Amino acid sequence: MSVLDDVQAMYAADTKGMLKSLWELPGQCARAWELGMAAQLPPAGQFKHILVTGLGGSAIGGDFLRVYAARRLGVPVVVNRDYVLPEFVGPHTLVFAVSYSGNTEETLSAYARAREKGAALVVLTTGGRLGEMARQDGVPVITVPGGIAPRSATGYLFLPTLAVLYRMGLLPDPGQEVHECVSLLQSMREELKPEVPRDSNPAKMLAAGFYNRIPVIWGSSGTTEVVAQRWKGQINENAKAPAYWNVFPELNHNELVGFEFPGELLRRLYVVILRDPHDHPRVQKRFAITREIMEGAVAGVVEIMARGSGALARLYSLVYIGDYASVYLAMLYGVDPGPVRVIDTLKARLAEE
Ligand code: F6R
Repeated sequence: MSVLDDVQAMYAADTKGMLKSLWELPGQCARAWELGMAAQLPPAGQFKHILVTGLGGSAIGGDFLRVYAARRLGVPVVVNRDYVLPEFVGPHTLVFAVSYSGNTEETLSAYARAREKGAALVVLTTGGRLGEMARQDGVPVITVPGGIAPRSATGYLFLPTLAVLYRMGLLPDPGQEVHECVSLLQSMREELKPEVPRDSNPAKMLAAGFYNRIPVIWGSSGTTEVVAQRWKGQINENAKAPAYWNVFPELNHNELVGFEFPGELLRRLYVVILRDPHDHPRVQKRFAITREIMEGAVAGVVEIMARGSGALARLYSLVYIGDYASVYLAMLYGVDPGPVRVIDTLKARLAEE
């Protein structure tokens, strides 16, 4: 029997409940929306830019927002993964400071800088030092439930930002899209859950494709780019394996040229093309031509199409498949998907300095 069909063993190997968190994602999204709709808002202002500052699992929601908002919001969204902030940040900037633990040093530093620069702030966290600082400073805090891995909390760390922007009159009402997303995830989990055997489970089939190979995930600018980045991060953190990502059309202007040498290593790459019906029509034409050029050099190329009609459902449908696939890949490698000891060690060693 394949490891991926030993359901009990998979649950037993998953000591931090990553599979449970995935199962609960639709409920998390629904709750996250409510939290955002009930949150305290920052004072109204004439905002010229939105900035999300965070790291890792707390930053990727910022990229979800950046891509979602690009076609809906009149001002740019910038994602900041650093101790410092870009020079443009000031009283005309609305900053979301996001840290699931509330203790990530880069985010604490960026939060303090945003305060110094007079930006309007909203904090998303479970608590920690960031929660304390925000409360002392009178900054609105959206307190999200704890107890899961930050990277499992994208619903909590992203959807409230949409609710806040909508309530501040900056975004059209995304409520319907959130509901569609929740229902779609509810139906998709029935297909992706561990109980569904390998041969009819798209996430398990993907994990089998990735196994003993290097995943290369390609998205497209403005639609699936952020999903490609998410898949890469989830494969790294859950399966403890490398993965790389890039975007169309940019990759047609450089990466694609690099599929000649070294042939032996190229045959260990497994490429996923993430697709969305809203990809630019010219980009859609590029998928087939690109495949023709490089397909013979690599172990495999698969295309995964987004599902749903609204942008949120389409985004999360792809995120969901990738999240499940990364956990199944961890199972194939015999590694516990939850703990990220390398990150913990790094944070602990830096705290000693
Ligand atoms: C762990 C994870 C990490 C953290 C990152 C920042 O699941 O995904 O990438 O998100 O180390 O920590 P927080 O989110 O607590 O600010």
